[in-house]
Amino acid sequence: MERDDVMFAERRLPGAAAPLHTFEAPTRVLLNEDHGIGDGGLNGLYEKAKAQQWDAARDLDWSQPHSPTNPLAMPDGTLAIHGTRLWNSMDEATRNQLRHDIQSWNLSQVLHGEQAALICAARLAQGEGALEMKLAAASQVIDEARHIEAYARVARTRFASTFAISSPLRALFGNIVSESRPDFTCLGMQILVEGMALSLFQNLRAYTGCPLFRELLTLVLRDEARHFAIGKLALAQSCAELDDHGRAEREEFICESALRLNEHTSASEIWATVGLSKAQRKELVFDSHVSQNLRRSIFRRLVPAVRDMGLLGAKARQVFAGLGMLEYAAFPAAA
Ligand SMILES: [Fe+2]
Ligand SMILES: [Fe+2]
Repeated sequence: MERDDVMFAERRLPGAAAPLHTFEAPTRVLLNEDHGIGDGGLNGLYEKAKAQQWDAARDLDWSQPHSPTNPLAMPDGTLAIHGTRLWNSMDEATRNQLRHDIQSWNLSQVLHGEQAALICAARLAQGEGALEMKLAAASQVIDEARHIEAYARVARTRFASTFAISSPLRALFGNIVSESRPDFTCLGMQILVEGMALSLFQNLRAYTGCPLFRELLTLVLRDEARHFAIGKLALAQSCAELDDHGRAEREEFICESALRLNEHTSASEIWATVGLSKAQRKELVFDSHVSQNLRRSIFRRLVPAVRDMGLLGAKARQVFAGLGMLEYAAFPAAA
């Protein structure tokens, strides 16, 4: 029998104790005595962030009804296994549990990622020297706090249980925070994780039938687009100053992080937890059009961004080719 070493997703009931994860995260803190704020792109993003603050408690209508078995009103066609023989053989109670659990797992990972983003933005505010980068990062901290508040309210009010952080996402976050150099934080969080969030949220917004969730995603997406832009602007400057060794180090970091990210998006832990074997996960989930489209939307944004930073060397090309995503090296950069 085929060995299956994937971890199972840990389900958490409301009120149950949740673990605190500890990471060693060395930081060099920079205090800049020059308080002159430039008028470049980063300052423009900071000004936009101030003008675009929203409040989930005030600006969204939380009284809308929802279904406990399909809390985010996602069409069944967005489930990877929809239409397969396995799906057709399931009774309605099993399908309802599946709809709930897949949505709950995705929302739980979003929440864990949002908290990771808050931590990384705070590290950038501490570790970056340029004042306009500190201000842009500080504005991102409050954005991520509002995202956590809003998504946590969705999880608390609409789901019977949530899930622990996936092992690839935890490993990816560990990789990012264990680096003391701010541009690694920027690469890992602002480009890879924020890029993934943009694609995932756009996908959810396109299909959800829940007006509250759609409106929330629209507001969050506006913020995440700014965060991705902060990363691209900051890195365009720092990457231009790298020597060959520095470029190779960052390329290696991107390769490792991209593999973790790809592993996370395959969602093996939740599909194993709902009962799929390793072979079923490969055939019915990983190779499905639903999963392929999500991965493609992520790497269509990521690969051109890496190329434009001058970090698409032989190693990165090899890794992206292995993931079937190198074709995006010829694509224009996404906003
Ligand atoms: Fe966020
Ligand atoms: Fe963000």
